[in-house]
Amino acid sequence: MSEIYSPDEDSFLMSDILKKEIPKLLKKNSDLKFLEIGSGSGVNLKIANESGIKKKNIFSCDVNQRAVKLCKSLGFNCIKSDLFENIKGKFDLIIFNPPYLPENKFDKERDTSGGKKGDETILEFLKQAKKYLCKKGKIFLLTSSFTPMSRIRKEMKNYKHKILVRKKLFYEELFVWELM
Ligand SMILES: C[S@@+](CC[C@H](N)C(=O)[O-])C[C@H]1O[C@@H](n2cnc3c(N)ncnc32)[C@H](O)[C@@H]1O
Repeated sequence: MSEIYSPDEDSFLMSDILKKEIPKLLKKNSDLKFLEIGSGSGVNLKIANESGIKKKNIFSCDVNQRAVKLCKSLGFNCIKSDLFENIKGKFDLIIFNPPYLPENKFDKERDTSGGKKGDETILEFLKQAKKYLCKKGKIFLLTSSFTPMSRIRKEMKNYKHKILVRKKLFYEELFVWELM
């Protein structure tokens, strides 16, 4: 079974955005329903809760059973699901820090590798996510300068979208997108 992803720069960039944006969203809707796809260690479920979202409104899933077990042990709703496969209902905020790297012989794990080209998991996420968004719902999605973007950009045209924040690391650049 795969290891649980250890929070890294990508996780923390998403945390920063959540700390900044969730209080604003809660001002408009105090009953905000939150979903994280691929919750891993639960680092951003904790941030969502600390930023004011009620625990009963925080939902999550992962394909990795170990991650599901850990998030549940932290008291969060978490189920095993490949993207939205087992998800029911609609959400005001959906976040995904996806596996975004092209597969290589050293790295084929689903925590970091997003398929042969690296964009496959994100593409499938974008195709499915719309159905699970409330009318004014938002998505925060992370990508990297290593993620091939041409097919993703095409799929993003189905949403209103913009880059919320970008962060240059010495080896790559990270982006968090907002999609509506
Ligand atoms: C880059 S890690 C991020 C983990 C955590 N959210 C964080 O920010 O530290 C990606 C996570 O997505 C999960 N994952 C990969 N493909 C998935 C899929 N198709 N459906 C659900 N989860 C998936 C992985 O198991 C992993 O926990």
